[in-house]
Amino acid sequence: MRVQPAVTALLPAAGRGERFGGEQNKIFSDLLGQPILAWTLEAFAQCDEIARIVLVGSEGDSDRLWELGEQYAKDKLQAVVLGGSSRQESVRRGLDAISTEYVLVHDAARCCITPELVAEAVGATRIHQAMTVVRVVTDTLMRRSGELVDRKDLMAVETPQGFQTDLLRRAHLSARTEGFVATDDASLIRRLGRGVYLLESTVPNPKITYADDLRIAVALLSSRTHPQRFAPTPSE
Ligand code: C5P
Repeated sequence: MRVQPAVTALLPAAGRGERFGGEQNKIFSDLLGQPILAWTLEAFAQCDEIARIVLVGSEGDSDRLWELGEQYAKDKLQAVVLGGSSRQESVRRGLDAISTEYVLVHDAARCCITPELVAEAVGATRIHQAMTVVRVVTDTLMRRSGELVDRKDLMAVETPQGFQTDLLRRAHLSARTEGFVATDDASLIRRLGRGVYLLESTVPNPKITYADDLRIAVALLSSRTHPQRFAPTPSE
């Protein structure tokens, strides 16, 4: 059997979480008895396709990140890297620690990710060299001016996003040299003129941005951890 090239999960977690509020980084906030980040780490630890995990964190969070990594990431945590002032800069710094052929970048704050979606993303990365999870837009969309935008043409771009590691390094170098900043990594690949495979998902995978988003995460994770409570009552 052919041995597949290894994959590292790179989890940017160095955001200030201003929209979430609170004293500490939101990823340390409690969600059903464990920190938000613990759920993300567990999903990647449970996926056999992921060999290692690299966390990118803020100054002062390093000890806590190591502790959580040791507790929830099995033996996969390889490094905790100091992040930068933008998500892009945090990912770029994290890439310096990656030594595997492929990397899966995932927002640490998307804690409802499942090991199954991670495995699907890895499969697509190996085939296409660059991929992103996307979701069909179901809301009506408009510009602030009031002009409607046809949602048929639009996709919500999420993470994980998977890449051949050197390709993503090149994309970051080029973006940095030319002063281009994006809120995800797939956009940097497209800038190089390369295609990015769209893995359409219907598995809810919200990014915890506002404190109220925690309610959605509680509902999603409870239904997974205690499925019997959410099963329909058998009729007599
Ligand atoms: O700010 P945004 O919601 O796009 O952040 C997405 C992810 O990127 C979060 O997990 C956040 O912690 C991380 N991030 C980072 N470094 C920054 C800003 C955001 O690692 N400077």
